[in-house]
Amino acid sequence: MSKSLDHLFDQNLGWAQAKTRDDPGFFRRMAEQQTPNYLWIGCSDSRVTANDVLGLDPGEVFVHRNIANIVHTSDLNILSVLEYAVDHLEVSHVIVCGHYGCGGVQRAMVNERGAMLDHWLQPLTMLYRKHRPLFDALPDEGARLDRLCELNIEMQVRRLAATPIVENAWARGQKLNLHGWIYAIHDGLIRDLGPHLSSASERDALLSIDQRVAEPVEPQSARRRQAEDAFAGLDLSDMASPPCCMLPLAYSSSLPKTGGKDE
Ligand code: CO
Repeated sequence: MSKSLDHLFDQNLGWAQAKTRDDPGFFRRMAEQQTPNYLWIGCSDSRVTANDVLGLDPGEVFVHRNIANIVHTSDLNILSVLEYAVDHLEVSHVIVCGHYGCGGVQRAMVNERGAMLDHWLQPLTMLYRKHRPLFDALPDEGARLDRLCELNIEMQVRRLAATPIVENAWARGQKLNLHGWIYAIHDGLIRDLGPHLSSASERDALLSIDQRVAEPVEPQSARRRQAEDAFAGLDLSDMASPPCCMLPLAYSSSLPKTGGKDE
């Protein structure tokens, strides 16, 4: 065993001991079976780990990660994971979760084309180049990157919905929901971006990704959803402009500072 990585083995020992201390039956249950209800397709970025950001234990989420969470429909790796998750584990939800500030997405926006990574990112590069005038109209480089990060997720959900694995599951009546989410590293919050798909007819009714480029969706975090739910319960119809003190605290503090992603 390499001495240089002894600290990782030591940390593993500490983690396993702590788990056993908190829940003596934890590893016995883990060894018997896994019954995750979710498949997470995320970026390889070391800061976006599914179990951590979802607050889930081992055994609760099946995971596939690659650079920029791309769904290549000829990628045996992701298709094998998807098939196992849908056909054998029978997960109810497949979540494509990208993140703002994604280095992979950023790479797709530059002209360097020498690495295998550039081949990997080609679908995203093509989308960016095709709609370059719309991206250039955004205020700065950060806004352009954020927008492409969002569109990448929407595109990958569409690609997921076009795989025979998902189509067959829907055709046989299996309950399977696809989701597009985006994670913000600066505050640790996931935003719901969409699309949400649970049938081929919902998929076929979607605007094309090219149309979506011109019509951004506002991402929604749990904090905003909770605030809007609270706000929806108030009847303010007879007030042209309710005073600030009438707004629920959570709502007023959740208003976006820049764009739709900072809350
Ligand atoms: Co990334």
